[in-house]
Amino acid sequence: MQNPAWIDGVVVELSSAKVSLEDRAYLFGDGIYEVVRFYDRYLFFLAAHLDRLENSARAIRLLLPYRKEEITTVANELINKSGFENGYLYLQVTRGSAMRDHLFPESTAPSMIMYVREMPPLAPLEQVKPFHLVALPDERWLNCHIKTVNLLPNLLARQRAFESGAAEAVLYRPGGIVTEGTRSNIFAVIEGVVRTHPATNLILPGISRQIVLDILVEQGLLFNEVAFTLEELQKATELWVTSTNMEVNPARSVDSLILPEPLPGPVCLKLMKEFRIRVAANRNRMEK
Ligand SMILES: Cc1ncc(COP(=O)(O)O)c(C=O)c1O
Repeated sequence: MQNPAWIDGVVVELSSAKVSLEDRAYLFGDGIYEVVRFYDRYLFFLAAHLDRLENSARAIRLLLPYRKEEITTVANELINKSGFENGYLYLQVTRGSAMRDHLFPESTAPSMIMYVREMPPLAPLEQVKPFHLVALPDERWLNCHIKTVNLLPNLLARQRAFESGAAEAVLYRPGGIVTEGTRSNIFAVIEGVVRTHPATNLILPGISRQIVLDILVEQGLLFNEVAFTLEELQKATELWVTSTNMEVNPARSVDSLILPEPLPGPVCLKLMKEFRIRVAANRNRMEK
């Protein structure tokens, strides 16, 4: 076998190894991994890598499906099967395959894959070429405007929200600046003005958000694309989320803050009605 791969106990050739389209690592980036080098067939610092894997699993609330001893045995078997002297072992654990939903699946077990690839042995010191490097701003996890499948932070927040009995989270940045939800944009009416975070790198520019903004313009309602803080949120008279799945949905409370009656409030109700008018208009357009 050229590049042996191991998928939950089954060994196949890497080029014909397949995982489900609904694997959560594929859909959401909902997984963790390690890359371990081996030199002369000996895995290098495997124990440290497995400790880190365990820490990563704990951090994303994933139960490792195999014990470290089992992983070590399989890893060594793969190296032996490959016949490679030097190379790397790749191992990945995902939350398994289940119907797409941000919430952790209840009846799906985590899944683990491993494979090995060959690499040249350690180069002699005199052959090591010094690198050219480049300085770049560290923007990791700050590119929320990209609708990427790297949704793990969203999943973890959504799960926490769900476990505290909430349908959605109101996410905030340092200084209490409210950005958006885990899978929706957030609007509030504060001192008579509709407010929502501007479409910067800190939020996903929702299609539903834009539909709502268009309706606000059309209806001559006061709005400002200026972020509000958790402190300002205490003065909100209305609050709602928007998304393709949830459309325009009012909120009745956030933590201990209770939004005043009636629910939905007048602005939200208007938006919900106008949203439905657009859905009906869309159907008429399609039927033509
Ligand atoms: C983080 C985030 N914000 C906002 C939205 C709402 O976007 P849209 O209205 O296009 O569904 C989504 C939708 O998936 C989302 O994941």
